[in-house]
Amino acid sequence: MDSRNRPELFDFHGVPMTREYTENWVDVQNFKARPDDIIIASYPKSGNTWLSYIMDLLYNEETRGREKSLKIFQRVHMLESTFHLLEPGTEMLNKLLISPRLIKTHLPVHFLPKSFWDQNCRIIYVARNAKDIVVSYFNFERMTILHPEPGDWSSYLHRFMEGKLLFGSWYDHVSGWWRRKQTYPHLHFMFYEDLIEDTKGELDKLCSFLGLSPSDEDKEEILHKVHFDEMKKNEVVNHATVDTMDFKISPFMRKGKVGDWKNHFTVAQNEEFDKVYKEKMKNSTLCFRTEI
Ligand code: A3P
Repeated sequence: MDSRNRPELFDFHGVPMTREYTENWVDVQNFKARPDDIIIASYPKSGNTWLSYIMDLLYNEETRGREKSLKIFQRVHMLESTFHLLEPGTEMLNKLLISPRLIKTHLPVHFLPKSFWDQNCRIIYVARNAKDIVVSYFNFERMTILHPEPGDWSSYLHRFMEGKLLFGSWYDHVSGWWRRKQTYPHLHFMFYEDLIEDTKGELDKLCSFLGLSPSDEDKEEILHKVHFDEMKKNEVVNHATVDTMDFKISPFMRKGKVGDWKNHFTVAQNEEFDKVYKEKMKNSTLCFRTEI
């Protein structure tokens, strides 16, 4: 891959961002939400693609099931994206006639356009434990030229702890959205670890939040399609045809496990990480599992 093509991080209202997610900022902030829009929000590498595919199957299977060529990022558009040669996310969303619109975002809670709150839109936030996030994010940034150069693992881990990666501090992201959940009733907070442990139970809770009641047969079919092994071989979601990613370095559907961090952290790194974690999360009631 050509490292010269990689974007640079810069400070954007206190959050490290790149031009790919900020160039269209006025349109993002002025975005007009529709009351039935559903946001799928997360810090990068938390399982957003997994949830997006579940949501697409819940809402659009009937109409789009046969449109095999539509990739997940064409089914669930990313609000803040302004990728080279593609229409900005806001423009693609404005043109969408389907209802509800499923909208992906990695924005920290205070960046979400006001209109979504004014319209009382439903929001699903998926969170994942920090140790697996940093491993997944490192491998992802190694393989995609859409993100800044990750450098070596040790320095990457430190930049994660300092909140200096794209979309900012994981600690602030999850804590911010969690705090918002306490006062905003239309926010369904999910954990990647729960989804791994009991996908069916989490699907049931999600359907109950959305007011959907699919048949047992439909649910079984969704559960089959969203299994990691199935998604890994499905070009709708595995990003295999995306030319900004180099699968020789790492696949997009990489491991899909809880606890892979143990294969990457040294004992010393783990101790330092735990210390920083305790300090950063001391005011949050949010609890994560790093193994199941
Ligand atoms: P790993 O790199 O740890 O494997 P996002 O979609 O937010 O970028 O998150 C990507 C992470 O979710 C990757 O984690 C990916 O493998 C995992 N993932 C995607 N689909 C999954 C599934 N069906 N089951 C388990 N993990 C899944």
